[in-house]
Amino acid sequence: MSHVRGLDLHLELGEGRGRGRALEAALREAVRSGRLAPGTRLPGTRSLAADLGLSRGTVVQAFSQLVAEGWLVGVAGSGTVVADVPAVAAPAEPARRPAPAGPAAGIDLRPGRPDIAAFPRTPWASAVRRALAGSVAPLDYTDPAGLPALRAALAAHVARTRGVRADPDAVVVTAGFTQGLALLARVAHRLGMRRSAVEDPSFPEHRAVLAAGGLPAVPLPVDDGGADPAALPDGQALALLTPAHQHPCGVVLAPARRAAVVEWARRCDGIVVEDDYDGEFRYDRQPVGALQPLDPDRVVFAGSASKTLAPGVRVGWLVVPRALRAELAAEMEAFGAWVPAVDQLALADLIARGDYDRHVRRMRLAYRARRQELVARLAAVGAPAPAGVAAGLHTLVPMGSAEHERRTVAAAERAGVLLYGLHASGFWHEATPDRPGALVIGYATPPAHGWRRALDALGELLRVR
Ligand SMILES: Cc1ncc(COP(=O)(O)O)c(C=O)c1O
Repeated sequence: MSHVRGLDLHLELGEGRGRGRALEAALREAVRSGRLAPGTRLPGTRSLAADLGLSRGTVVQAFSQLVAEGWLVGVAGSGTVVADVPAVAAPAEPARRPAPAGPAAGIDLRPGRPDIAAFPRTPWASAVRRALAGSVAPLDYTDPAGLPALRAALAAHVARTRGVRADPDAVVVTAGFTQGLALLARVAHRLGMRRSAVEDPSFPEHRAVLAAGGLPAVPLPVDDGGADPAALPDGQALALLTPAHQHPCGVVLAPARRAAVVEWARRCDGIVVEDDYDGEFRYDRQPVGALQPLDPDRVVFAGSASKTLAPGVRVGWLVVPRALRAELAAEMEAFGAWVPAVDQLALADLIARGDYDRHVRRMRLAYRARRQELVARLAAVGAPAPAGVAAGLHTLVPMGSAEHERRTVAAAERAGVLLYGLHASGFWHEATPDRPGALVIGYATPPAHGWRRALDALGELLRVR
């Protein structure tokens, strides 16, 4: 095993005879796999020979062979560099979260994202600068539940904006909601739970996260009043709900059902996870408050910066019942689930200075206008009216049958418009053909300058002729 100086290239050559051949093979493999990118300059033959304990002639011969094979090229004045050969990709994992739309895709109306082009870069950059100008203590190993400044800022924020009952000790900062849910699933499993209850339809990735944590999901049918608590299992479970704005149907959990969910958790020793993923965005009236204050000992309130700022920020927060905190802290330690300190400090600063609220207010106006334009355009082209309340970053457009939905999603894709469907994108627990079809349209996703084009394309796609 030798190390090529200056390149940080690890080569397994072994000992004994045939080390020239081994060098050739190791370099060939490094180029073929993409580990050595095209254009990478190799060390000189003299220093490489000294490093590897080979004669210079052996290295020269190996280089010549690889040049002849087209893996390397000699460049006058620069020595030997890696040729421009495409790396052989490892087999692809099936994508679970939508990959960013490439330029060829054109118009991105997939749900689950805000307009990331509107990210408040200047306030964020100032917040990062102030964070770095402060004490170095947060740069040490700290409490995995989060830095005190952010936990305090979030406790005050969710109490003020969502009516959550939170003190800083209850707040746990996570790398987004998804990580928080994965950790909670493991806590619930440790506490003896073996299943979850999740709305049907719902975001498929969350069901997968719960199943991976040992809590396969039973479906909770959704109607105009939100998830039906009558379908909650008779026994301990973790129930994942989106009460303020059901994802993806867009309805609000009815008051009697809110009470019934809490009553179920008390009776069955269950945990309710309230996914408040877009609770900041309600356009027709004040948002309904959180479910959590009905029983802070049973309900975990969960928020995220993914819709308010950008998913790439990867910061979320949980407000955790006292009885779960020690178990959750243990899981966070076990997973090394700390959130980067500078990002935590920056978000705390953004909230404390009011920049976060200002950004959310500005985006609320922008998304409200987009939604109104979308509703008007659908009416103008004779398409069905969107379901659900005026809120959030996406809406559901009923398509009747599964078949009609799938055909529309496919036609959209051919026209360069990316959007989701209840069947096509896995929202139903079981996508049997009798389930209604609907498009799930993320109207917040395009950048402001691309919105009009997106609206026109969607209008043409859904025009009834
Ligand atoms: C229903 C729902 N909840 C929560 C989230 C936020 O997840 P995260 O904070 O991990 O980005 C999303 C994002 O797509 C979502 O669709």
